Amino acid sequence: MRYASITDRLANLGSGKWALHLRARQMKKEGADIIELTIGEPDMPVDPSLIAEAQRAMNAGRYRYSNGRGEPAVLDALAAKYCKRRPDVTTGNVLCFPGTQTALFVVMLGLVEAGDAVLVGDPLYATYEGVIRSTGAEQITVPLRAEHGFRMQAEDLERAITPQSRVVLLNTPHNPTGAVLTAREIAAIGEVCLKHDLWIVCDEVYEELVYNGTFASPFDNPVLAERTIVVSSISKSHAAPGFRSGWAVGPADFTNRLLAVSETMLFGVQPFIADMTAYALSNPIETSARMRETYSSRAQRIVSGLADAYGVAPIPPDAGMFILLDVRGTGLTGEEFAWALLEEEGVAVMPGSSFGDEARYLIRISLTVPDEAIDEACRRVTALADRISTRKERRA
Ligand SMILES: Cc1ncc(COP(=O)(O)O)c(C=O)c1O
Repeated sequence: MRYASITDRLANLGSGKWALHLRARQMKKEGADIIELTIGEPDMPVDPSLIAEAQRAMNAGRYRYSNGRGEPAVLDALAAKYCKRRPDVTTGNVLCFPGTQTALFVVMLGLVEAGDAVLVGDPLYATYEGVIRSTGAEQITVPLRAEHGFRMQAEDLERAITPQSRVVLLNTPHNPTGAVLTAREIAAIGEVCLKHDLWIVCDEVYEELVYNGTFASPFDNPVLAERTIVVSSISKSHAAPGFRSGWAVGPADFTNRLLAVSETMLFGVQPFIADMTAYALSNPIETSARMRETYSSRAQRIVSGLADAYGVAPIPPDAGMFILLDVRGTGLTGEEFAWALLEEEGVAVMPGSSFGDEARYLIRISLTVPDEAIDEACRRVTALADRISTRKERRA
């Protein structure tokens, strides 16, 4: 049978990236003592008031069809949220989606196609390649350099631009690096985008999880308003990824055009989820403050716990739920170190190569496990690093 080319473009995208995670799950199933630090799912409970609101809404019959843009209450709540950042925002700038991932997919489908190119920083979040490739567009990577704290620099962006370039996909705060772009860096990136007439799609799903520095966004700059689209959700801010509640906010022309694309794919977001999201956005909920405190403290715990580990250098994040380790000093790539760590010590982490070429000497550790598991993981990483050092000495 014949299939459309999208199935070829997306084939094998996931398999290599997640091979170690899947192997770890298998080992766990077979009874091995595995500390799983691969995926980034918040380990905080959803605030009970959100669950109560979803239940109230279901009991009130809020399970009928919605509309393509979003339920009025959640559109109002989102307009109010973004109005605080740019006063001209109205509900006409908002479209609701089941999560940031769907928003990214539909937004990209509305902006690019075969023959176009999308610029994105490397390292990059694991699904971006699939989102870009599914449209038929080409992905062009812009190196995010360690010496700049993995924050995209305007000169690097400008160097990567080709005549086909249509969109810059930004992610701040960034997964996997935990980097937060500064207002000055965003202004410089914005100038390049104005000069080359590029759209900016900004994934801000970790907006509420900044623990060092200040969150800034191209969306907040009126000069960039006509070309910037934000995508985000309550997955991280409210520790609620399974509710699948996200959105895109951008120019009204864009959201009006995209509405038809969105409606072709979805009959809107479930009304009871929309009510719960409106509640989450309009009431003071402590979850993100607790996550900021917990994840920054766990990152610090890893920095201290690995202070004496041979050849392993933690890169403290400014935001998010992950910390990177540079393992170049051990003489291994991130991929080699991560597999040795799993096979020899039973600790599962993501090899940096899952996030792009620039991350090949890195591993990513998720901060979403209790302190005791973090401490034990540090002991096991140190034990492996020490063994690597002894083996090297013997060979020398
Ligand atoms: C950078 C980034 N964007 C998007 C997502 C997906 O978020 P959502 O659950 O809102 O689809 C994630 C999830 O880990 C992420 O890290």
